[in-house]
Amino acid sequence: KLELTLALMKPHLVKNPIALQTIRNKIIASNFKIVRSGRKMLNQEDAEKFYEEHKGKFFYNRLLTSMLSGPLEIYVLAREEAIRYWRQLMGPTKVYKAQFDDPSSIRGEFGLSDTRNATHGSDSPESAIREIKILLPDFDFNKWNKDE
Ligand code: CMP
Repeated sequence: KLELTLALMKPHLVKNPIALQTIRNKIIASNFKIVRSGRKMLNQEDAEKFYEEHKGKFFYNRLLTSMLSGPLEIYVLAREEAIRYWRQLMGPTKVYKAQFDDPSSIRGEFGLSDTRNATHGSDSPESAIREIKILLPDFDFNKWNKDE
């Protein structure tokens, strides 16, 4: 059964075309179907909605600043267990841990700090839906898998 996840390339990564191509190749090699892709500049309101669960945390302001510092590259990915497989490709959230435990992961290779950790991935099917609705308000959850 196909599952959807939202994969985001964060602004500092979008400035690095070689990293973007490397990650795109990893996505394809991992048997994801790229359902949608595009670039978008977040606005303050969407960024706050997107990260509402982190409001009040010590890194919240720097997280918003970094997410608003340039365009994001957005992918909606599908495969079975898409959420788990994309998180596996990304590696641990914290860059020190990523570099130490899983240096060939995306965050191990391209993360700069715990905030600028290269990429984001949904952590559950419910968050995937919530996050896709914020970033791609016209995404049709009933149709994405029906045109083949
Ligand atoms: P992301 O997967 O986008 O989800 C929440 C983000 O908060 C996370 O990636 C990091 O960018 C940031 N974050 C999480 N934990 C920390 C931390 N301890 N210090 C700084 N930033 C963090």
